[in-house]
Amino acid sequence: MPCRYEHLVTGVIAIILLSMPTVAQQREVDGANAVLPWAFVLNDPAPADATVPNPNEIVTVPGSSVSMPRSAINIQNGPPDWHPDGHPPMPTLVSTGDGNDVVACGYCHLPNGQGKPENASLAGQPYDYIVQQMADWRKGLRKPGEPRMAPPSFMERIGLAATDEQARVAAEYFSSMDFKQWVRVVETDMVPKTRFSGWIHKVIDNGGMEPIGTRVVETPENLRQTELRDDASGFVAYVPMGAIARGKNLVVTGGNGKTTVCATCHGPELKGLGPVPALAGRSPSYIARQLYDLQTGVRNGAWSDLMDATVANLTVEDIVNIVAYTASLSP
Ligand code: HEC
Ligand code: HEC
Repeated sequence: MPCRYEHLVTGVIAIILLSMPTVAQQREVDGANAVLPWAFVLNDPAPADATVPNPNEIVTVPGSSVSMPRSAINIQNGPPDWHPDGHPPMPTLVSTGDGNDVVACGYCHLPNGQGKPENASLAGQPYDYIVQQMADWRKGLRKPGEPRMAPPSFMERIGLAATDEQARVAAEYFSSMDFKQWVRVVETDMVPKTRFSGWIHKVIDNGGMEPIGTRVVETPENLRQTELRDDASGFVAYVPMGAIARGKNLVVTGGNGKTTVCATCHGPELKGLGPVPALAGRSPSYIARQLYDLQTGVRNGAWSDLMDATVANLTVEDIVNIVAYTASLSP
């Protein structure tokens, strides 16, 4: 029997759909951290019982013949290189920086360029793309969506200071390497409880589980190794049930005009095409920040307009689904 309220119901659903805010609209009220707190991570206060590790402890990581005191880990102008055979010889800019504002790229992006959720993977990105991004920063065209999140603001300062010549040296190095599988995507209803520290999610020991909701929880496979800046230890990304298939629909079909078909520009399997960056297998936290930054226009580089139609109508849920799918692809 046809429902008398059919039109009313359809109308109400249409109004609800039309009133779903895009992230840009929501940002006006809340700021980036409030919109995507799992991607624009701000640190929680340290727990009262936090222990300070012994700086003199000699540490190493699996599969490495290198060892060093813990105090040698967090050196901006000389981060650890645990696996020297795992990458070509680093230019000094990548291993030690320029001694001024241009901090060693390997400190954050890791010697093999695999990167971490709070920064970005550079390995395997096109040379021209890397050079262009550095030019955008230099000209003040690529700003962080959430300035209170320290690493992207730090990158902005480095980008403002780096010369075109330095950008080319770094681009030559990072584009010469393949990006390796780095993020394991797991669909789930429940996730381990995490706290924000070091600008990432850290699983709380014996903290129990909680519903995932509409977010991605990306956390180290092995926290100790990540904290030691091991460039051989990757990440796990928990995503909502069904997110990968929903994201695939948006990415592959454009979702009935909601967004665009990504492969047109990012290449088959999203592995990059000419100067357009690769997305496959890269950190979902990083990709989410960029979709937000591109939608809100704080990232407004020379090529960013090409992304306008893609991001204009995305909601937070769309972003979760898209990044779940792109992260699940093999690089
Ligand atoms: C203090 C940490 C840090 C250091 C050191 C650092 N970066 Fe970054 N970099 C970041 C962060 C954080 C991001 C991601 C910004 C964001 O999320 O919006 C980033 C992003 C990038 C990107 C953009 C990648 C993409 O896919 O668009 C490039 C290119 C880049 N960095 C190059 C460099 C180069 C070259 C150096 C060395 C000269 C360097 N970075 C040093 C933190 C760092
Ligand atoms: C018309 C071409 C085009 C289409 C279609 C397109 N992109 Fe892009 N995309 C680009 C270009 C060009 C850039 C570089 C933008 C810049 O330099 O600011 C980019 C950058 C990005 C970035 C930032 C990557 C990084 O490493 O920082 C993400 C994320 C992204 N696109 C996702 C997508 C997704 C997801 C889709 C499909 C839903 C898509 N794009 C469709 C051209 C396109």
